[in-house]
Amino acid sequence: MSEPKKLYIKTYGCQMNVYDSERMVEALGGQGYVETKTPDDADMILLNTCHIREKAAEKVYSELGRFKGLKADNPDLKIGVAGCVAQAEGQEIMRRQPMVDLVVGPQSYHRLPEMEAKARTGQKALDTDFPEEDKFEKLKARPKAKRAPAAFLTVQEGCDKFCAFCVVPYTRGAEVSRPADRILTEARDLVERGVREITLLGQNVNAYHGAGPNGDMTLAGLIWELNKVDGLERIRFTTSHPNDMADDLIEAHGTCEKLMPYLHLPVQSGSDKILKRMNRSHTAESYLRLVERIREARPDILMSGDFIVGFPEETEEDFQATLDLVQEVKYGYAYSFKYSTRPGTPAAERPQVDPDVADARLQRLQALITRHQREVQDSMVGRTVRVLFEKPGRQPGQMVGKSEYLHAVHVAGADIATGDLRDVRIKASGANSLAGELL
Ligand code: SAH
Ligand code: SF4
Ligand code: F3S
Repeated sequence: MSEPKKLYIKTYGCQMNVYDSERMVEALGGQGYVETKTPDDADMILLNTCHIREKAAEKVYSELGRFKGLKADNPDLKIGVAGCVAQAEGQEIMRRQPMVDLVVGPQSYHRLPEMEAKARTGQKALDTDFPEEDKFEKLKARPKAKRAPAAFLTVQEGCDKFCAFCVVPYTRGAEVSRPADRILTEARDLVERGVREITLLGQNVNAYHGAGPNGDMTLAGLIWELNKVDGLERIRFTTSHPNDMADDLIEAHGTCEKLMPYLHLPVQSGSDKILKRMNRSHTAESYLRLVERIREARPDILMSGDFIVGFPEETEEDFQATLDLVQEVKYGYAYSFKYSTRPGTPAAERPQVDPDVADARLQRLQALITRHQREVQDSMVGRTVRVLFEKPGRQPGQMVGKSEYLHAVHVAGADIATGDLRDVRIKASGANSLAGELL
């Protein structure tokens, strides 16, 4: 038998890319590849890229530059670019970095085996179509290998919202939901392989409306179906849009026992003027009312969010409105970004905020968010949380897992195994994690 070929895959960007990378490794497994952790001895290097901000996109080119030497040493090495930069820049990537053999957009991964074969013959392979066929269905060749206890499962892709700053509707295409039965089959398969927690993914996951047995199913409907899967203990979903937070989903947060008390619900800004210009179609007030309703359904829910500062025409007053909103919600986690101009999006044409002003605002917002994050995390001390243990900690005899609120929790205990779900009393709160004892 011939030696397996080695695939080095590096993933940037969102969790959907993490999921896609796993599927690509599996797809190329059928071509005789096994994953390797270093590019040095690889037969194929694949960068799964992100186009969301300018820096993310530029990183790809500098990373490719680093592989030049490897390609000189090993002319058989194939280099591929996948993901959202591949979709957005296509052929341009091969023009800027002629050593790239293969460029594949996010909707064409099921064609990767053919593309790899083409690249092996010395030809360039490029596919950035939005094909009709279901890539996940065609990517079915799933091995039976054991999996880590927490897994991602993409249920919805693409976005029709067209926020004025965002490339996703262009790189991922129109919003599409996978049929419920395929998701349930995949979930059961994951559980058989050791998975106990599934995070359902979608750029607009709460807009999910996949075909079910009695017509289209909502995300809440899908969650209730997953709730029945034996051996699956926890369900999460991300990322949600405020406008798609349907009543049945809010209610599920209060009643569905496997649905975890954590919700990532990006608002982007606290200023109605900016929200309007962002084409967000919700106001600060409607968002705050929504958060209130969610907290009524599930009082202990941990809220998480995303913010953009320095969006075109953002004034100090607009920014202050963002700080006010953050103050009111008190996020357990929040991610804030300086606005990055993305060519081809509507906001790119508008008057830009001075970058130094935007930097200073970002720092102020991050300071507030960090303080809240810390307070929320500290408030766990003395409480009992349930932890899904994922891996050994840095210290001997220690294990790390996640609480229902997604805080990392360290626990000493020789009898804890990966995949165990145990009650833990929280004793201390550190910089980025909690520490506790088994009950
Ligand atoms: N579909 C999700 C995630 C989109 S990308 C959602 O609607 O929230 C993740 C985050 O990146 C966004 O929430 C936004 O805060 C940020 N982002 C998107 N485009 C950006 C840009 N041009 N500049 C800075 N941040 C951006
Ligand atoms: Fe981008 Fe807005 Fe769609 Fe989120 S909802 S992916 S921010 S366009
Ligand atoms: Fe980035 Fe594409 Fe995800 S642009 S955030 S990898 S959808």
